Amino acid sequence: MGNWNYWTDRSYYHKELADRAKGLKSEMESAKQVAKVVHDEAKSCHSILDAGCGTGHFILSFEKQLKNDFKYLGIDITEQHIIDAKEIFKENPNYQFMLGDVRKLPVEDKSYEVSICCNTIPHIPNIDQAIKELIRVTKNDVFIRMLVGNEVLITKKGLSDELDANGEPASFMYVNIYDENYIKKIVGDLGEINIYDDEFDAAAIMKHYEEHKASAGNNIATRIIDGSQFKGHLMLPWKIVHIKL
Ligand SMILES: C[S@@+](CC[C@H](N)C(=O)[O-])C[C@H]1O[C@@H](n2cnc3c(N)ncnc32)[C@H](O)[C@@H]1O
Repeated sequence: MGNWNYWTDRSYYHKELADRAKGLKSEMESAKQVAKVVHDEAKSCHSILDAGCGTGHFILSFEKQLKNDFKYLGIDITEQHIIDAKEIFKENPNYQFMLGDVRKLPVEDKSYEVSICCNTIPHIPNIDQAIKELIRVTKNDVFIRMLVGNEVLITKKGLSDELDANGEPASFMYVNIYDENYIKKIVGDLGEINIYDDEFDAAAIMKHYEEHKASAGNNIATRIIDGSQFKGHLMLPWKIVHIKL
């Protein structure tokens, strides 16, 4: 399978996410959108589990959308994100963080009303385990921002020129697209699936691209071409998958 986890060594990204959680950078378009969908679809939500939470920066968007207090647990596989998040949100005991893998969540069954997993599923292997875990720990609604197209496309984006013994990129990130049928097979009769289109402000994404292409790389920072989002040559059909349990 190779090393699919490229976050540990991306120090520029650690700072980027920490700055977002501190409110020093503009709100992410996807955070705005996910918080709005959670508000619209799961109105009186008082507990949220965020798997692949980064530094917990989505909390700021939830605070804007949800008028009530909420309990939040952020889980991430990258230790530095968890260290930063704990420090940034240390004043609010409702916000907790834990090191962990979305494919084996260290959380009891049905312990959160809502769970979210944003911008993470396209980049990891074994998404069936991840989606089943999200369903297991959730009472009402799972929201997953992922790439959903009309075919399954497993893609390795090489991060350097080096190849391994099989001639595959030695260092890579997955940018995987799944189709609706694939997701339906994983969910089975555990929940009802709705898929919402991505909404975003193209100018905000291009501004971010211009600011970050030097550190992230031209082919990794997201940009807009003809109204669609691209990572390098790959078009990104972002959707929010809502699993109503
Ligand atoms: C692209 S970032 C998205 C962060 C945040 N959700 C957002 O949308 O800005 C992916 C995050 O998922 C984390 N991650 C990757 N694989 C994971 C796994 N198997 N379990 C938990 N977190 C994971 C990474 O450390 C990183 O923080």
